[in-house]
Amino acid sequence: MSTAVLAPDRPILAAGETIDTPAMVVDEVNLHQNIAEMAAWAASLGVNLRPHMKTHKTPQIARLQRAAGAVGATVAKLGEAEVFVDQAGIDDVLIAYPVVGVPKIARLLALMERAHITVTLDSRPAAEALARAMYDADRTLDVYVEVNTGQDRAGMRAGDEAVALALDLARMPGLNVVGVLTHEGHAGASAPEMIADVALAAGQALVDTANAIRAHGVDILHVSVGSTPSAPYTPTVPGVTEMRPGTYVFYDNSIFRHGRIGPDRCAARIAATVVSRPAPDRAVVDAGSKALAMDMSPSHPGHGYIVGHPGATIARISEEHGVVLLPPDEPGFAVGDRVEIIPNHVCPTVNLTDELLVVRDGHVVDRWPVAARGKVR
Ligand SMILES: Cc1ncc(COP(=O)(O)O)c(C=O)c1O
Repeated sequence: MSTAVLAPDRPILAAGETIDTPAMVVDEVNLHQNIAEMAAWAASLGVNLRPHMKTHKTPQIARLQRAAGAVGATVAKLGEAEVFVDQAGIDDVLIAYPVVGVPKIARLLALMERAHITVTLDSRPAAEALARAMYDADRTLDVYVEVNTGQDRAGMRAGDEAVALALDLARMPGLNVVGVLTHEGHAGASAPEMIADVALAAGQALVDTANAIRAHGVDILHVSVGSTPSAPYTPTVPGVTEMRPGTYVFYDNSIFRHGRIGPDRCAARIAATVVSRPAPDRAVVDAGSKALAMDMSPSHPGHGYIVGHPGATIARISEEHGVVLLPPDEPGFAVGDRVEIIPNHVCPTVNLTDELLVVRDGHVVDRWPVAARGKVR
């Protein structure tokens, strides 16, 4: 895709603001705007907003989302749930990932003493183990059935497969089937002109599946969809009750190609310093694979978008080196100059940093620990 269509962009940090790099900087105004806008969209649809908090992994941002009306959190890992319950006071968490294995089930039972936890399941073996543990502990666990509406990751296929699983789970003591869930990530991965149709089809497949389960007497209260690129579409399907976008708090390079959001709306960037200029067409910045995740993006070539330099490409990264290829006479890449890089995929990039530097009017005003980073269990 041509970079020429990108909106005009500006750095978050004021030129005179000195920070050590690499560091993730977050623009406070953009962050608040992104949170408020999605909350208003969900409210206008009458759909619950349960943001996926793996994007930011940060209790302060969880509190902002909650204050803006989020009904609770979505996370992928039990460890993330523990952080948001204990450090952000979130009392209602959906773990949108199967909880499998004895150690995790013990932690889940402990966490259920401190908050309302719902778990997503897509298999009988995982459900049986959880049901047994809940029954033995005299507890009941709310579960969503994960439905595959086209992403082909986890989830039973929409329709008969998912209905059969839901009915089996509903018969298990200790489990309470309260919802169905899909992550329509394939919509965002489709061509920009196709995203609306793909997202709407995914939402409809999920609603139809929920209705088919209800026809067997199981009360499906929650019909949960979620991804940032499809957020304008999937939650508009009548019957959807909940949306779980995550990336929207910051946005990232992956969304530009859909045209709605440009770099000026991206709240989180990696600030990096030019540490070498070995050739006129090549510079090296101090953000390599330890600062930028490896994901690529169809929106822009290379390992991130350098704000204000659409023609520059981070062509290669090793651990500590980001190798930037420059068009002729590109200004701003002398040794010591600072650049801001919008990550291709912000979620794994946040996972690489200990803290977010919060920036107001170009100046760092706070540092927020990324308390749920690295919580892979
Ligand atoms: C199950 C689930 N729900 C919601 C999301 C949020 O999607 P996005 O990052 O596009 O906002 C994700 C992201 O991976 C996910 O895995």
